[in-house]
Amino acid sequence: MDPIYEKGQGAAVALAEAATVRPARSGDLDAILAIRNDAIENSTALWTDTLQTPAEGAAWLAAFLDKGAAFVAEHAGEIVGFGVYAPWRTLEGFRHSAENSVYVRTDRHGLGVGSALLDVLITSARAAGYHVMIADIESGNAASIRLHERFGFQDVGTVREVGIKFGRWLDLTIMRLAL
Ligand SMILES: CC(C)(COP(=O)(O)OP(=O)(O)OC[C@H]1O[C@@H](n2cnc3c(N)ncnc32)[C@H](O)[C@@H]1OP(=O)(O)O)[C@@H](O)C(=O)NCCC(=O)NCCS
Repeated sequence: MDPIYEKGQGAAVALAEAATVRPARSGDLDAILAIRNDAIENSTALWTDTLQTPAEGAAWLAAFLDKGAAFVAEHAGEIVGFGVYAPWRTLEGFRHSAENSVYVRTDRHGLGVGSALLDVLITSARAAGYHVMIADIESGNAASIRLHERFGFQDVGTVREVGIKFGRWLDLTIMRLAL
């Protein structure tokens, strides 16, 4: 288990209560991009090695902002996490199925921020008329699997060795919540 998480347990409730989740704005881009690029560089949460440039990040974020589907968690004046959702697949037959992404700054893992963000994503997607929410999770990502379980997502299967990063195969666990 992540040692930051173990150390942080006592403070979890306090930070989760103090963190505010609000709709993201274009001015949040730098903070969001720093969290996202850190995950690209140092984790198997995002299956790419290519960091996003500010221009690419702006275009990526704008698509979510247009739909009111991007949120940030703020604590003590700093952005400590973000969450977005979008249709799971691009073909229009998938339009009632959303896929979520939740990212918390590494030094704030295990303190309730991811839960605060996912709660808002679920409420927002439900209000927007989505029928199902999906999370595609690298199978070794215990924190993300637990986060989604606690909101009622069910593991609907694992697809073995469909990704590769850091020189090893990655399995994909798909989790589903009926909204
Ligand atoms: C996954 C992530 C978003 C979770 O956010 P978080 O703020 O750390 O999670 P929370 O503190 O809200 O905890 C949510 C649940 O996960 C559990 N958890 C947190 N970290 C954990 C860990 N390292 N191992 C196992 N469980 C963990 C918590 O105990 C809690 O469950 P509980 O209610 O049963 O106690 C965060 O760890 C993160 O940003 N990771 C890197 C990016 C990533 O993997 N994103 C998801 C891509 S699918």
